[in-house]
Amino acid sequence: MDLRHNQGVVILDFGSQYTRLIARRIREQKIFSEILPSNTKVDVIRKLNPKAIILSGGPSSVYSISAPKHDVSIFNLDIPILGICYGLHLLVQHYGGKIETSNIREYGFDEIKIKNKTDLFDTIPSKTKVWMSHADKVSKLPKNWEMTAESSNGIVASLESKSKKRYATQFHPEVDHTEKGKEILSNFLFKIAKCNPTWTPDNFIVKKIDEILEIVGKSGKVLTGVSGGVDSSVVSALLNKAIGDRAISVIIDHGFMRKDEAQNCVKSLKEHLGLNVQLFDESEVFLERLKSIKNPEKKRKIIGEQFIRSFEKIARKIGHVDFLAQGTLYTDVIESGGHSNIKSAKVIKSHHNVGGLPKNMELKLIEPLKELFKDEVRNVGRELGLSEKLLNRHPFPGPGLAVRILGSITQQRIDILQEADDIYISVLQEEGIYNEIWQAFSVLIPVKTVGVMGDNRTYENLVALRAVTSLDGMTADWYRMPDNILSKISNMIVNSVSGINRVVYDVTSKPPGTIEWE
Ligand code: XMP
Repeated sequence: MDLRHNQGVVILDFGSQYTRLIARRIREQKIFSEILPSNTKVDVIRKLNPKAIILSGGPSSVYSISAPKHDVSIFNLDIPILGICYGLHLLVQHYGGKIETSNIREYGFDEIKIKNKTDLFDTIPSKTKVWMSHADKVSKLPKNWEMTAESSNGIVASLESKSKKRYATQFHPEVDHTEKGKEILSNFLFKIAKCNPTWTPDNFIVKKIDEILEIVGKSGKVLTGVSGGVDSSVVSALLNKAIGDRAISVIIDHGFMRKDEAQNCVKSLKEHLGLNVQLFDESEVFLERLKSIKNPEKKRKIIGEQFIRSFEKIARKIGHVDFLAQGTLYTDVIESGGHSNIKSAKVIKSHHNVGGLPKNMELKLIEPLKELFKDEVRNVGRELGLSEKLLNRHPFPGPGLAVRILGSITQQRIDILQEADDIYISVLQEEGIYNEIWQAFSVLIPVKTVGVMGDNRTYENLVALRAVTSLDGMTADWYRMPDNILSKISNMIVNSVSGINRVVYDVTSKPPGTIEWE
C-alpha cells in the first residue's frame, strides 16, 4: 500500500530532527503521509499522485555546497507545497527571493503576528506562540509573494503565493510547542490541499486484506511468526481475517522469552482471537548457536538467521508454505536504515526483522505493518478485536532476553533474568503504573558486586532496571519512577532471586542512550 491508494502527502526529508513528527501529525489527521529523500525524482512523486508536498526543515543553508539535493522540477507540480524552515528557504530561493544566512542555529519560542488571515491561518488568533529557528531568514520576498505572518522582531514568519499554491513557514507547525500548529497544518491539509481523511484503521484493514489476497493468491499458505507482542499479534489477526485457515501462527520459543511467555501467548491468541497457533520449542538450537557470543550485533544476526531456518523447517513440516509474515513497523524500517527511501538513516541496531535476515530465504516475506507507527498498529489491533491488555503490552524485541543478558548467554543467566523481570513487571502492574510506561525491562550485567545477606558476604550479579516513556521508540525519556515502588522492586528482587544482590535504575534518555542496552 502506498500513496497511490491513499491520496496522501509526500514529505521530502531535508534532514530535520522533526521530519518524522510531520509524518505523524499528518497521519493524526487521518491522512496518509510518506517520507521520501529530498532528491526523489519528480516522476516518482507524480506516480504517487499526492495531494500535497511538504518540504521539511534541515540543518543546512540553501546556499551551502553541501545542501541536500532536490529535483527542481517538483516546483512545476500543480499541487500545494508547504515549506517548513529550510523548506521555506528553498521556496524563497527558487522563486527569486533572498535568504540571509547565519552560522548559528537556535530554536526558541516566539510570538508571531498574523498579518493576513489567509487559508493557512484561518481561525488562528492574530498573535500566537510558535517554535522557530532564528538562524537563516528571508531578506527579500519573491515577486508577488505576500508575507502573512511576522515574528516579534520583524522576521518573516510565514509567506505565500496563493496563485502558485506555495506556502511557507519559518516556524515549525509540527512541534507541540507551536500553540496552534495542529490547526495550521490542518488548514493546509484540508482548506488548501483538499485532502480527504481516509487514513483510518478500518480502511487500512480493507485495503491490506485486498493486498494480502493479491500477493498470496487463492491457495498460498502463510506462516506468521508470533512473539506475544502487539505487532505480530496484529499481523496474525489480519492474516486470519484475510485468508482464514491458510494463515498459520507459529510461536518459536527461542528460549529468550519472558517467564511463561510462550504458553501465555498461545493461550491468549487461541482464546481471545480464535487463531490457529502452534508452539515450537527451538530453545536448544538457539542457545547452542549463541554459546560464547558476546557481540550484540552478532547475537542479532545469528538469532535472525536461526529464526528463518527454524521457520523453514516448520514450513516444510506443515507443507506448501510460501510466505512468512512479520510485524515490522515503519520505525523498525527507519531505524535499521533499511528503507531505500531514507538514505540518511544510519544503522544503529540491525533489528532482526529488518536488517538481520539472511539473503537466501526459502520463504517470501510479507510485512503488512511496514508503513505504520506503533500507535497506528494499536488502533488497527483494536479494530480487529485484540484485547486492551494485549494492545497495551510493552514492546518486546525479537531477540528477547538475548540482548538483555550482556555478554555470554547461559541457561542459568536466562533463568535469573526471567525471575527478576517477572517481579519487576508484576509490581509495575500491581502498582497501576504499567500503562504510564512505554517500555520497561531488566538487564543482566556481566559484573559481580559484593553484598551482605544476613551474616554472609555475597558476591553476585548486578541487574539494571530500565523504564522509559516515549511516543514511538525513536526518542525516549527515562521514567520518573516513584521511589517507594523502586525500593519495593529492588527489595523483592534481591530477596527472592538467587544470583542477584544489587539493583540499579537507568536514568539515560534516548538519545544519547538507546532503549535496549545492546
Ligand atoms: P533501541 O534500543 O534501538 O530500541 O532504542 C528501540 C525499540 O526497538 C526495540 N528493539 C528491537 N526490536 N528486534 C526487535 O524486534 C531488535 O533487534 C530490537 N532491538 C531493539 C526496542 O525494544 C525498542 O522498543
